Amino acid sequence: MGRCPVCNEWNTYAEEVIDRQAERHREKHARNGEKPAENTPVPLTQVDETNLERTDTRDTELNRVLGGGIVPGSIVLIGGEPGIGKSTLLLQLALRLHDKKILYVTGEESDRQIKMRAERIGIKNDHCFLLTETNTQQIFKHAAALAPDIIIIDSVQTLYTTYIDSPAGSVSQVRECTAEVMRFAKERCVPVFLIGHITKDGMIAGPKVLEHIVDTVLQFEGDRHHTYRILRTVKNRFGSTSETGIYEMTGDGLRPVLNPSEILLTQRDEPLSGIAVAAMMEGLRPMLIETQALVTPAFYGTPQRSATGFDVRRLNMLLAVLEKRAGLRFGTKDVFLNIAGGLRVDDPAIDLGVVAALSSSYNDISVPYNFAFAAEVGLSGEVRAVSRIEQRITEAEKLGFEKIFISKFNQKIDTGRYQIAIESIGRVQQLMEALYG
Ligand code: TYD
Ligand code: MG
Repeated sequence: MGRCPVCNEWNTYAEEVIDRQAERHREKHARNGEKPAENTPVPLTQVDETNLERTDTRDTELNRVLGGGIVPGSIVLIGGEPGIGKSTLLLQLALRLHDKKILYVTGEESDRQIKMRAERIGIKNDHCFLLTETNTQQIFKHAAALAPDIIIIDSVQTLYTTYIDSPAGSVSQVRECTAEVMRFAKERCVPVFLIGHITKDGMIAGPKVLEHIVDTVLQFEGDRHHTYRILRTVKNRFGSTSETGIYEMTGDGLRPVLNPSEILLTQRDEPLSGIAVAAMMEGLRPMLIETQALVTPAFYGTPQRSATGFDVRRLNMLLAVLEKRAGLRFGTKDVFLNIAGGLRVDDPAIDLGVVAALSSSYNDISVPYNFAFAAEVGLSGEVRAVSRIEQRITEAEKLGFEKIFISKFNQKIDTGRYQIAIESIGRVQQLMEALYG
């Protein structure tokens, strides 16, 4: 077929020959093989759970996103764009675990490149073995001989199995190889980390097709030009999916960031307009982050709207709300919005901070540096309640903020418990009055 009826792209069809004979052979093998073919129903109370002891990764952030360490026999897929630091994260893990035997399989880089990276990280470990190989059967052969405690495969897109006749990296290869790795891991009860690349457009042949096969999916995100990285749990059979880990990419590897707010707030010695601090949640952790806006007269026909780290459509909506409900005229202005630190924020609770930053730049009046904001803004200009408001207030208080603006629609808050002043508002007009009189 010349054109794909689904995505309408030309010449994207590729022939894939599946070797039926090899498959049948493998099935027969599995039937006659050492695996007990018959499983009988067992009462749940009698299921053996003793071997579920987790391995400490010696990395607070990684432990957290994995739900408390590495589960034996589990498959963890780490996805992320090229250059984000996936190889660094896992090599660092391999080098840190001194008392474990690790097999690092690479199909991407030469052993010399890995060695160079290890030197940057600067940890020596005699129990970390390197294997440059892409054929799954070969990998299993070596892994069976070496009997490592943990296997790391960099990356799943370079793997190929001889059972399927299509190029490495194609959907069917990636899927089949992962299934093979899965069988190997479960049989031998060895945990495997798989690295998977995500392409900017659509994640084709990437980790998406694997999500249902593997036990845990972690996503490594961040702006390559900034130093902060967020490791998010997308799926976890052994823990919560709202956990996140935050790292800083340094000259010698990734460093866990234990108190993100302190770094994400820039130090200012003079009041600047267009800056407001929002109390957001990154997974289950509260974090204060700076939103920066610049509103300038537009000199060209169509005013520009640009946002980094924030959804432009949401920015447009907030501008429309300010225009309609607070009488700010953005129609002839260029508007730029930036979330500090190169982070991308989805938490709607930063709306109020964004509104404060936009109006501050518009009026050219600075927002006091010790004010924080945490609320969603609705279409009619109402200030809406957000989840985990107490945690946000506590975090702002901990960092020395003196006032926090929240929605009056939050469930009852015991304001007496806090040192920080809490201002509950119901509409954006009230915020304008409070900030600019
Ligand atoms: P890498 O782990 O190769 O990314 P990925 O495997 O996701 O493609 O590392 C990406 C970047 O990190 C690379 O540009 C170099 C940089 N880096 C550091 O800044 N410090 C370090 O200590 C290391 C090892 C890498
Ligand atoms: Mg890599």
